[in-house]
Amino acid sequence: MTYTSSTVHVPDVAAVPRHIAIIMDGNGRWATQRRLPRVAGHTRGVDAVRSVVEACVARGVEFVTLFAFSSENWRRPTDEVSFLMRLFVTALEREVARLHANGIRLRVVGDLSMFNERIQDLIRRAETKTARNTRLTLTIAANYGGRWDIMQATRKLVEASVAAGEAVPVNEDTVSQYLAMNYAPEPDLFIRTGGEQRVSNFLLWQLAYAEFYFTDTYWPDFDADALNRAIASYADRERRFGRTSAQLVTQNQNADSLSC
Ligand code: IPE
Ligand code: IPE
Ligand code: MG
Repeated sequence: MTYTSSTVHVPDVAAVPRHIAIIMDGNGRWATQRRLPRVAGHTRGVDAVRSVVEACVARGVEFVTLFAFSSENWRRPTDEVSFLMRLFVTALEREVARLHANGIRLRVVGDLSMFNERIQDLIRRAETKTARNTRLTLTIAANYGGRWDIMQATRKLVEASVAAGEAVPVNEDTVSQYLAMNYAPEPDLFIRTGGEQRVSNFLLWQLAYAEFYFTDTYWPDFDADALNRAIASYADRERRFGRTSAQLVTQNQNADSLSC
């Protein structure tokens, strides 16, 4: 299924975001504040994932995308990177059955070739097992970078051109069909916990018209209430997609008179 682009057509929007993308930041500081090793924050971060995904299901959100490991996170100390890899394995082993029982489809996006065989195998099995679930699609971005995504899509476009013996036209449809998340609509709401106000090479293409929400709350403390506050903030926004406020008022009046 392909979705319309927010820069080609104005999308329909609702009070509850259809797709929420989150940079889960602040695990290290959460732990340091408690005089714990940084990695204790990562372990607690997995608990927060569980409760936020449940809360998203309860609110009727259809797509949740979580930034778990960026293409730049390899720059961290080796011990921390190894711990994160082990945590990824444990989470895949322990959580997939629960996701499946709850009707959640799991996808993992990023350059997975950098992960060891065990992780790649667990990812493939989890994706296959949950492929037909329809309640919510949970995407984990792992060794993901927005620039990597645009580059790999471009590379595939070039390969398709070579295979076809002529240049494939470059437009939003052809580029986005090769992006790693071609199965999802663009995020409506982007949340970053942990106080920083930056995108850190997350979904660069897809965030074109997302609403941004920043909170100082560290990821391990982000719970259903915190999620509901973010959704409430989103519901208050006026998403204009380039138009004027007056145009939106007219459009809403027309929609009201049509539905009477
Ligand atoms: C986010 O928390 C988790 C990952 C990047 C894996 P951090 O580990 O970045 O926590 P802070 O930002 O150092 O507090
Ligand atoms: C972004 O957090 C990546 C993830 C949450 C996985 P970082 O903590 O790595 O981002 P920077 O380095 O502060 O920009
Ligand atoms: Mg951080």
